[in-house]
Amino acid sequence: MNKCIRISKEKPVPEDRKTYADAVFSLVGGKDYKCFVQTFGCQQNEADSERIAGMAAEMGYSITDKPDEADFIVVNTCAVREHAEKKALSLIGQYKHCKNNKKELVIAVCGCMPSQEHRADEIKHKYPYVDFTFGTSDLYMLPELLYRRLSGAKRTFIIPEDKPPVVEDIPVVRESNYRAWVSIMYGCNNFCSYCIVPYVRGRERSRHPDAIEAEVRQLIAEGYKDITLLGQNVNSYGRGCDFDCDFADLLRRLASIEGDYKLHFMTSHPKDATKKLIDVMAENEHIARQFHLPLQSGSSEILRKMNRGYTAEKYIEILDYIKEKLPDATLSTDIIVAFPGETEEDFEKTLELLEYVKYDMVFSFIYSPRNGTPAAKMENVVPDDVKADRMRRLLDLQTRIADSLNAECLGKTYRVICQGQSKNNAGMLEGRTEGNKILLFASETARDGDYVNVKVTKTHAYALYGEEVK
Ligand code: 5AD
Ligand code: SF4
Repeated sequence: MNKCIRISKEKPVPEDRKTYADAVFSLVGGKDYKCFVQTFGCQQNEADSERIAGMAAEMGYSITDKPDEADFIVVNTCAVREHAEKKALSLIGQYKHCKNNKKELVIAVCGCMPSQEHRADEIKHKYPYVDFTFGTSDLYMLPELLYRRLSGAKRTFIIPEDKPPVVEDIPVVRESNYRAWVSIMYGCNNFCSYCIVPYVRGRERSRHPDAIEAEVRQLIAEGYKDITLLGQNVNSYGRGCDFDCDFADLLRRLASIEGDYKLHFMTSHPKDATKKLIDVMAENEHIARQFHLPLQSGSSEILRKMNRGYTAEKYIEILDYIKEKLPDATLSTDIIVAFPGETEEDFEKTLELLEYVKYDMVFSFIYSPRNGTPAAKMENVVPDDVKADRMRRLLDLQTRIADSLNAECLGKTYRVICQGQSKNNAGMLEGRTEGNKILLFASETARDGDYVNVKVTKTHAYALYGEEVK
């Protein structure tokens, strides 16, 4: 593997980065060069893409949404399931014609996919027009990599370190002027047996609370209303750090900032979710009444094989406490269907748990084997027809539950954030409730980012409909 040589190790990282950004600017600045960033995957990737756009702008590129007119294309990939990787590879394949049309075009692939050695190797050999790859933790190196390539260096494929640094002060171009992502930590130490994330995002590293508070304060001062704190397992924020601040402390600190805004966070790991955290949420109106708590399976035996670190009983205990302290909170979860060895009985336990909890939203995924994870070597793979059948039964049940929960919203008024025109309902605006439910409404005056009071007049399993009330 052709690893990148860090040519200026003795200098602190951020200054290094700026120097390279200046160097790229001296090559491309004033030439009307454009950068196109394509994002796959989770909110962490969306947040990373906003930093990529920020660095591209700093280096003299304007941001375009048309790959055909770009001089620099960055594909930010996901590796969590095979489907996501296939989609990214197919898109990278399509960019070959862009390079054919414009020889000086630079194409970079980043994120989780090329952080796996076999994928980096595949890109190197099968996609010779890709100029360089880098991982999520090497984001700050983008100016250096681009400068080296523009100056004629060989193609580079970086496999991230296990414990990369936390780099502050990377510029950002945010997609929205009312919703913002704030990464509070990076990486994951949990090694759930099915999951590729710990291998591609490295070990857990938390940002300093002072830096997070400064970023959140600035966002609120700029008028951001919906701020989502991001981490693979926010509940282990601050662990092993030289400051004394756990996630509940951080939330309390951020929620004490004055202003008209809501804080969201994801993702919580049930094994580390504390009563203290739920108490802090219950005390503070600035923290959205929403809890996403990935269950993965309702069978304690499957949870053990998944290396999740909790049983179904322990999960229910924490969920009951959430329901007691935050009775109006929207609840959501992730479920993996057909993990190796999942029996009909195991699967029924998942359905029973869904019936018991009554989540507003369930994100369900058919298990996808990931190269290099322990689960990929497990026996008793569930046959395809059983997988499909279980998925259908789970979706049917959840549709029924969501339908009856949403029906309870009829006649109630919610304060939603207007997110612009609905893509599927012509003439309607799409709003999001504090609990992240979609509420469609008509209005002559509401603009993106406005708070609007909407009374629910009709409900479906996956959306609410209503009228603006002044
Ligand atoms: N197969 C299917 N789903 C997965 N997830 C993570 N890894 C896999 C996999 N190998 C799901 C989990 C996680 C969500 C983000 O993606 O449910 O919570
Ligand atoms: Fe993957 Fe588990 Fe870490 Fe989540 S907590 S990122 S599922 S290893």
